[in-house]
Amino acid sequence: MILTRTEESILQGESGPSARKAMEILVALGNIYGADSLIPVSSVQISGVSYDNLGNAGLEFLAEMAAGGGKTRVLTTLNPAGMDIEAWESLGIPPDFAENQQKVISAFARMGVITTCTCTPYLVGSLPHFGEHIAWAESSAVCFANSVLGARTNREGGPSALAAALTGCTPNYGYHLTENRCPKLTVTVETGLAGTHEFGALGMVIGKALEKSGLKPVPYIRGIPSATLEELKSFCASLGTYGGAALFHLEGITPEASLYNPPTEAITITRQDVETVVQSLSSQSPPAGPGSSESPDLYTLGCPHLSLKEIARIAELLQGKTVKKEFWITTARPTKEVADRMGYTAIIEAAGAKIAADTCCVVAPIGGRFKTLVTDSAKACYYAYAKHNFNTRFLPFDKVIQEVLL
Ligand code: F3S
Repeated sequence: MILTRTEESILQGESGPSARKAMEILVALGNIYGADSLIPVSSVQISGVSYDNLGNAGLEFLAEMAAGGGKTRVLTTLNPAGMDIEAWESLGIPPDFAENQQKVISAFARMGVITTCTCTPYLVGSLPHFGEHIAWAESSAVCFANSVLGARTNREGGPSALAAALTGCTPNYGYHLTENRCPKLTVTVETGLAGTHEFGALGMVIGKALEKSGLKPVPYIRGIPSATLEELKSFCASLGTYGGAALFHLEGITPEASLYNPPTEAITITRQDVETVVQSLSSQSPPAGPGSSESPDLYTLGCPHLSLKEIARIAELLQGKTVKKEFWITTARPTKEVADRMGYTAIIEAAGAKIAADTCCVVAPIGGRFKTLVTDSAKACYYAYAKHNFNTRFLPFDKVIQEVLL
């Protein structure tokens, strides 16, 4: 890989030990993937923020990078943490976990990372435009950035994203290159779809089809005349989870989709395909889990983090009512702050539900605390089952709220 003089000097340690470490990571990555050079990025989004995932080893690595003078060179934000940074007690987070989580956040802050902990940075001020090179890590956000915004990013790991933040660049390979963005499989959707939960189900159907094909081709998707922002973020989360996809072309929506003809290799998706996965997510019961007869004890909306419009809808449906179950509503802190100002938070909290900023039901340390989770998110169903050993039930957005009132 050919480095510029500045990049070479960082590698020689002239910008301090942390920047040198970061450059070493990027050079190693570039050599593995055959990149010819590094390219500048305009923003970074770092995953691996929850202490539940990082553990002590991860915390020590971050503390060392901060102590070694690491400083971000571009706009850098964080993925959700394991708790609401301000209101962790109300979520039942143990104090020792909270202490370690605070240390993680503070290490990032010392490096200049903006500590909005969210998987939807594009809703709160980190919004790359068409063709812009970025280095993001959260799979749903990567898929959204590539496919809805038309920006260019690979799916970074936590260390490679941090390395990009501390150097302002990333190896030029994968989805940064036009030739790798070309679609290879046409997917025709033959059914109408509505709402986040049906778009999540579609993401799972297509994701599993991509997995099955082995090569994980970039799909060119037809038959969806329109989709809301919320439906697209749900679809991206699901496709990234079940198919490992970081890029799709959705006809009429993806900015560069019109540059391509639909590939000849093709599959179709029917109503039955979507219904089948809706049913499967509504009856997941892990072998080591509590058993499918357990009645739901955790309801959640906000995977990916909710938009303001979604929070307004929840407030509308909860106005003057009382929830009967534990109900977590997860979002980015800046979104919650607007919800506070609009009175949505007061309505939701008066009903007994919890708005949790900075976190989500997947990265919070809640394994063993609940038995059955209800959500509109296909991605949350996957991790509730695989990570927490929960049963899952999968419902439309409004239906989740209606059920929590029963
Ligand atoms: Fe975001 Fe957590 Fe879902 S990080 S995409 S809310 S699993």
